[in-house]
Amino acid sequence: MNIIRNFVVFEGGDGSGTTTQLELLRRRFDPPPGSPSLPGQKPLLYPTFEPTDGPVGRLIRSGLRGETKLRFDTLARLFAADRNEHLHAAGGVLERAGRGELVVSDRYVPSSLVYQGIECGDELPLLLNNAFPIPELILFFDLDPEIARQRIKNRPELEIYEYLDFQIKVRDRYRSLLPLFRSQGSRVETIDASKAPEEVAEEVWRAIQKMPIIHTNG
Ligand code: TYD
Repeated sequence: MNIIRNFVVFEGGDGSGTTTQLELLRRRFDPPPGSPSLPGQKPLLYPTFEPTDGPVGRLIRSGLRGETKLRFDTLARLFAADRNEHLHAAGGVLERAGRGELVVSDRYVPSSLVYQGIECGDELPLLLNNAFPIPELILFFDLDPEIARQRIKNRPELEIYEYLDFQIKVRDRYRSLLPLFRSQGSRVETIDASKAPEEVAEEVWRAIQKMPIIHTNG
């Protein structure tokens, strides 16, 4: 299987903190205020996410909020189309990782195999995603779905997948699917997402520091 070097993916159920952690990682790469960044110390970080904020991603988000009514198999196809843009467009994941940036995405192929797999069965998401190369590193933010629910229940609007029964299935499927990525050559690490954000951020950083890109740059 084709591996994208310098590409990291954060995965987990809703409310597992991937978005917060990507922000904390971004701050780590920012030069401290007042001190000019020393060139060559760290690679350039490109934080990104799926669904993207491109045209297909926006349609997906409207579907997730329930504003646009879409069949689940249509959503599965849209996620794959959005990913294709994310990966291959100018300035996208492949181009940036290829030129030595550290690209970190909040969700990627595993989300489709997990979430769309629950709704549509395994076959369609596998078919739609099996041509996408896989990341060098996958961090799975593991969290009890009940705790995750407590974290997200005050959000102004919940999306179609954000209910407990579904999230229990999400966690189970991540656990059964991630070994597949490991067997295909990705490094997969489980992060205990129940800890305080700063502690989780340390775990994330420890995992990322094992990547060759960190050492070739610093
Ligand atoms: P999420 O990263 O949770 O966005 P936000 O926190 O901004 O709402 O992603 C939105 C939802 O999309 C989440 O429930 C997971 C789902 N999703 C899929 O079902 N399949 C996919 O392929 C991807 C990328 C996301």
